[in-house]
Amino acid sequence: MSNSVLGLEGKVVVVTGASQGVGLGCARQFVNVGADVVITGRRAAPLEQAAAELRRSGREVVTVVGDAEDPADVAAVIEAARARFGHADVLVNNVGGRRGKPEGTILESGPDYWRGTIDRNLVSVLTCTQAFARFMIETKRPGVIINIASVGAYRASPRLVPYGASKAGLIQATGTLARELAPHGIRVCGVAPGMVDTDSLREWFDADGLAARGRKLPAGRIGVPDDIGRAVLMLASDLGSWIYGTTLIADGGELLGDVH
Ligand SMILES: NC(=O)c1ccc[n+]([C@@H]2O[C@H](COP(=O)([O-])OP(=O)(O)OC[C@H]3O[C@@H](n4cnc5c(N)ncnc54)[C@H](OP(=O)(O)O)[C@@H]3O)[C@@H](O)[C@H]2O)c1
Repeated sequence: MSNSVLGLEGKVVVVTGASQGVGLGCARQFVNVGADVVITGRRAAPLEQAAAELRRSGREVVTVVGDAEDPADVAAVIEAARARFGHADVLVNNVGGRRGKPEGTILESGPDYWRGTIDRNLVSVLTCTQAFARFMIETKRPGVIINIASVGAYRASPRLVPYGASKAGLIQATGTLARELAPHGIRVCGVAPGMVDTDSLREWFDADGLAARGRKLPAGRIGVPDDIGRAVLMLASDLGSWIYGTTLIADGGELLGDVH
């Protein structure tokens, strides 16, 4: 398939939390089809390492060290995009996950853990979405915003109440944001990944455990970050131009159930 079908050549794509894992998989897919990227993360060294890899594509890669939960840092991302490109076409709200170690069930966990995780998965996405939507409207360009949710939104996973609840909230918010922002030429969608081999998943499984789990999935393997990158790319591209508010499940069939 020619990259021109996607309509992403020369587009400016911002990916939060892209020094590794799902975010880097997304950024990699975008530069490979001719987009320029702005990538963020809190630690400078891994972010620069990711940028060095992405620059081998020949595309522009701007790095911004900052916390997607901090409105001042989000403003700095916008200023970096403005300074280098003058605008942004796509925002991928990838930052999410737990804040802190899982504290246990509802009987064992506390409000700081609940609030921290809800802030990371929902408040930070709303903060980034508001800031970038205003920037897109100000620069009079149509835009696309993709939110990274999780299949954890659809399942009851003990000890992960705030994670599952906030990702479920994000899926709901994606639809509402799509309605609110469509009149401004901004399309909002989401991707709900299943198990993807990243550092955060490796906190739960070792290599053998992941391989064994993967063999039970309809896809026969667990995901890699580029699997999610391809789903995000499709929704953000012209191929997704009539898709509004939908969160696409990309999980190798995990939610369908094991094959054996
Ligand atoms: N892996 C899975 O199986 C899976 C499944 C479903 C959904 N997801 C979702 O996919 C997304 C990415 O997960 P992942 O597994 O790729 O995580 P990961 O491997 O831990 O990578 C997280 C990335 O985000 C950056 N980051 C984290 N918090 C940040 C913040 N507050 N501000 C800016 N950057 C931040 C990290 O860099 P710094 O630490 O330097 O900031 C890193 O680059 C999350 O929304 C997660 O819920 C993952």
